Amino acid sequence: MIHLSVNINKIATLRNARGGDIPNVLEAAINVQKFGAQGVTVHPRPDERHIRYSDVREIRPYITTEFNIEGYPIDRFMDLVLEVKPHQVTLVPDPPDVLTSNTGWDTKKHKKFLREIIEALRNAGIRPSIFVNPDKEMIKHAVDTGTVRVELYTEPYARVYPQNPQEAIKIYVEAAQYARSLGLELNAGHDLNLHNLNYFARKIPYLSEVSIGHALISDALYYGLENTIQMYLRQLEVD
Ligand code: PXP
Repeated sequence: MIHLSVNINKIATLRNARGGDIPNVLEAAINVQKFGAQGVTVHPRPDERHIRYSDVREIRPYITTEFNIEGYPIDRFMDLVLEVKPHQVTLVPDPPDVLTSNTGWDTKKHKKFLREIIEALRNAGIRPSIFVNPDKEMIKHAVDTGTVRVELYTEPYARVYPQNPQEAIKIYVEAAQYARSLGLELNAGHDLNLHNLNYFARKIPYLSEVSIGHALISDALYYGLENTIQMYLRQLEVD
């Protein structure tokens, strides 16, 4: 079974556009779980332009499913995750000023750094995952960091999928099989949506979890949050 983790950053972005508390981030976290998602993802950035560090602390006691916190591991981020202890931390290599994640880690170049961070996470009982491109070399070096999972960056898949699904999926299937052969568990995320998700889920063996934010929250404008989550869950029924 592939788990759906809903990234609720966009709820916070909308709230921040006006100040105040509409829409309410805690309510969204509670509702995505009530409506069937198996996890909640947040991605606090250093400038707190989406979800704030204080949001993460506030929602933590209400997460009854799997809590996944993504981010670049600056000291403040590590202090936060070691304090709130989510189930999983997904390390992303984003510089502070980027709009959204746009590549995976260079796991060869940053191996020593990642190893230290991952050790701290594992010692705290948090499952580490690192964001990587579907690149065998990067997956090979990911193993040496001590990570348990990798999250495949799916933007390139989403970009090519509308013209050529077979071509779009090819390197992901190879990357997934390779990761599995090395004992890594597998997540995926970025630009997955109602059109491209089912094909990805059917073709990629051994997928544990997808984390989806932008498209899902946007679809909820039209279909409602409860209905939208059910629609995404149906896309993930592949057995
Ligand atoms: N995975 C990671 C590591 C991300 O940084 C993001 C975006 O915050 C996502 C998944 C979700 O991407 P999207 O918002 O396009 O669904």
